[in-house]
Amino acid sequence: MRILFIGDVVGSLGRDMVKEYLPKLKHQYQPNFTIINGENAAAGKGITQKIYNQLLEWGAQAVTLGNHTWDNKEIFDFIDDAKRMVRPANFPEGSPGEGLRMIEHQGKRVAVISIQGRTFMPAIDDPFRTAEKLVEKARATTPFIFVDFHAEASSEKLAMGWFLDGKVSAVVGTHTHIQTADERILTKGTAYLTDVGMTGPYDEIIGVDKEAVLRRFLTAMPVRFEVPKSGRSQLSAVVIDLDDQTGLGKKMERILINDDHPFFN
Ligand SMILES: [Fe+2]
Repeated sequence: MRILFIGDVVGSLGRDMVKEYLPKLKHQYQPNFTIINGENAAAGKGITQKIYNQLLEWGAQAVTLGNHTWDNKEIFDFIDDAKRMVRPANFPEGSPGEGLRMIEHQGKRVAVISIQGRTFMPAIDDPFRTAEKLVEKARATTPFIFVDFHAEASSEKLAMGWFLDGKVSAVVGTHTHIQTADERILTKGTAYLTDVGMTGPYDEIIGVDKEAVLRRFLTAMPVRFEVPKSGRSQLSAVVIDLDDQTGLGKKMERILINDDHPFFN
């Protein structure tokens, strides 16, 4: 079993990268299941139904979200019918959408879980206890369990990795938009990466117009953040090989595509 996970798609440049490179990545890596984090896919803020459908058409089997889940109001019209969309499970009880989706593809069932961190992020329900409950539910029907942990602090992310070690296939971090180089198989078999990185503008600051971000840092005044629609772009992803019987991680490979790390194929 091989899972391809593409990190935080930001705006139209990010979407263009998925459209261009997902077929090439599929050709090269032959994944059985593809997941995309799309919480910034609509101009950096949330996701629309059209974009969700596009990501599926281009080859994703599941789309995960994060702290920007509700930023595009259109989400409320379709999230409950979007059976391949996963928003953080530890949002308050009664929030629309689901934090665990069981998705059948190529004769295999994959549990996709989204969890959001609490360190340097909005206060929400306990990510650890929430994850524990959902993992128990998922394990009753499948060994293939993928956790997108959408969090700021690397310590909280690594803590989640060890907390779920041996119980899930993979814990992969999202949200910081900077890919980390610490991919590993934890001692009980869970594949772990602190952050997969982002897909979108390359010459900006985590996907946002760098002049605006700099103005905010230099003046400490409110500044409107925009996601550039032109310029160089990048794609960040990870490929994870899982044992077909146990669902545990065997091998991971980070993918980074940009002008400094060109994709040759
Ligand atoms: Fe985020």
